[in-house]
Amino acid sequence: MADFDLPQDSYFLGFDSSTQSLKATILDSNLNIVANELVHFDSELPHYKTKDGVYRDTSVNGRIVSPTLMWVEALDLMFQKLSSKSNVDFGKIAAVSGSGQQHGSVYWKNGSSQVLQSLDPAKPLLAQLGDAFSVKESPIWMDSSTTAQCRELEKAFGGALELARVTGSRAYERFTGPQIKKIFETQPDVYNNTERISLVSSFMASLLLGEYASIDHADGGGMNLMDIKEKTWSKVALEATAPDLESKLGKLAPAYAVAGNIAPYFVDRYKFNKECLVVQWSGDNPNSVAGLTLNIPGDLAISLGTSDTVFMITKDPNPGLEGHVFPNPVDANGYMVMLVYKNGSLTREDVRNRCAEQSWDTFNKFLEQTPPLNGGKIGFYYKEHEILPPLPVGFHRFILENFSENSLDGLKEKEVEEFDAPSEVRALIEGQLLSMRAHAERFGMPSPPKRIIATGGASANHSILNSVASIFGCDVYTVQRPDSASLGAAVRAAHGWLCNEKGGFLPISDMYMSKLEKTSLSCKLSVHAGDQNLSSKYSAIMKKRIEIENRLVEKLGRY
Ligand code: ADP
Ligand code: XUL
Repeated sequence: MADFDLPQDSYFLGFDSSTQSLKATILDSNLNIVANELVHFDSELPHYKTKDGVYRDTSVNGRIVSPTLMWVEALDLMFQKLSSKSNVDFGKIAAVSGSGQQHGSVYWKNGSSQVLQSLDPAKPLLAQLGDAFSVKESPIWMDSSTTAQCRELEKAFGGALELARVTGSRAYERFTGPQIKKIFETQPDVYNNTERISLVSSFMASLLLGEYASIDHADGGGMNLMDIKEKTWSKVALEATAPDLESKLGKLAPAYAVAGNIAPYFVDRYKFNKECLVVQWSGDNPNSVAGLTLNIPGDLAISLGTSDTVFMITKDPNPGLEGHVFPNPVDANGYMVMLVYKNGSLTREDVRNRCAEQSWDTFNKFLEQTPPLNGGKIGFYYKEHEILPPLPVGFHRFILENFSENSLDGLKEKEVEEFDAPSEVRALIEGQLLSMRAHAERFGMPSPPKRIIATGGASANHSILNSVASIFGCDVYTVQRPDSASLGAAVRAAHGWLCNEKGGFLPISDMYMSKLEKTSLSCKLSVHAGDQNLSSKYSAIMKKRIEIENRLVEKLGRY
């Protein structure tokens, strides 16, 4: 087994520019966590007037954006916090990388590359980049306003499946290609006044580099623009999206590559070492693969953040009409497969606020006091347009008539207006987890998985983790901190540093073996699966749920 040493007394910094906050994690050379910081957008940058980090534009159906400058100011504030609160000695940082919420895009105005290259260390970033963007409000992953563009893109490929085979996914409203196409079609002057289009990940990397950073292969898989096998821009997709797009997107790069040294701005202003490397940033979900040490096929990860995601790694992807395939950011020949739910933590908060006195304790009490299978009560809760299944905003509640948990054969469902509060909580949690299990099995994920590794804000909730274990019928583990995306970014900073040192790609599993599994990042046991009999009862209600879901999609579905 190879043993790769990181430089003693050095630090590795990872960011996560996510929907609701900017987070940072610093690791030492043994990959132990030495500092964590968070900037919460709504409460710490209230002048942007965001709710959950975003603007929901009710006048245009499905438009959801975030102010680009808020992300810039959050980075200024994060550096202040890291130096004054956490007393970080930036001179010790050997490499920095980061995660961005996936799919979101940033539009740099013609001439901004000059501004980026000549940042004045005496002033904050915000004061210098106020006029750098041709689009002031970045479309983000929650946006669902580009259905027309999606259908056109699929048509250019001869069908949704053909597009999925090349780019890893059929066309999705939040993916960057359809978003760029909409800007070109509705605001051609703005498009023409744009010299560079970044993802949230490559945008933040550009700030640290002082020049435009490449989009990496893993996050590039979330655009409907990249050929995931060739790892090049797809000419058909570019042509179907907008003119001169390739020059605005720049070159692609592997996630493990070094983008360059940190910009002189940070050397002067925060006393970074000028040799500090910026490793390509990537998407939050791809980086979570690194943060969760997900290197065994058959392990399933569930992230319960603003969005809920389910993912695993594979060598042999088979993209289809459901789910997504991205290149694996820490395995040059591997891939990750993923399912995404828009209705994650914010929808859970909504039910908590409505039914459980705005308290997670009450929410958990309700979850624990109701029986598994919820007496046949099945709910669908879409506060946002859902991706999986593709259903519009709305809540739907059903009761299986003459319910008995021993046999669901032939039972019919009846639609009802409401559930009592405890049943509503259980219907929400069971519904989401049953949907994850059903769609994951349909996507070829193992049943039961070998184990589940849980992450994201809601993975701190043990009552929810108990339901995960019973419904999937396997043990559930958590990492010591729930923010695997910033942790994964710091791990990738170290991995990129090593690859650079050795002059080429090294398998990250060697680094895990020699470091991670001995340290604080290793998984700790959280919840045992318990009753196998219960998991087979859940299989029966899962089938019922999918039947009802199919009927809802037929009646209301968007595709
Ligand atoms: P992001 O997608 O912005 O990175 P996080 O992974 O930080 O989001 O998750 C934030 C969410 O975690 C919050 O919206 C909150 O609802 C949820 N959360 C935090 N603590 C709990 C808890 N004890 N139970 C359930 N959900 C929780
Ligand atoms: C993934 C997705 C979300 C965002 C959230 O496809 O849309 O998980 O990455 O940050």
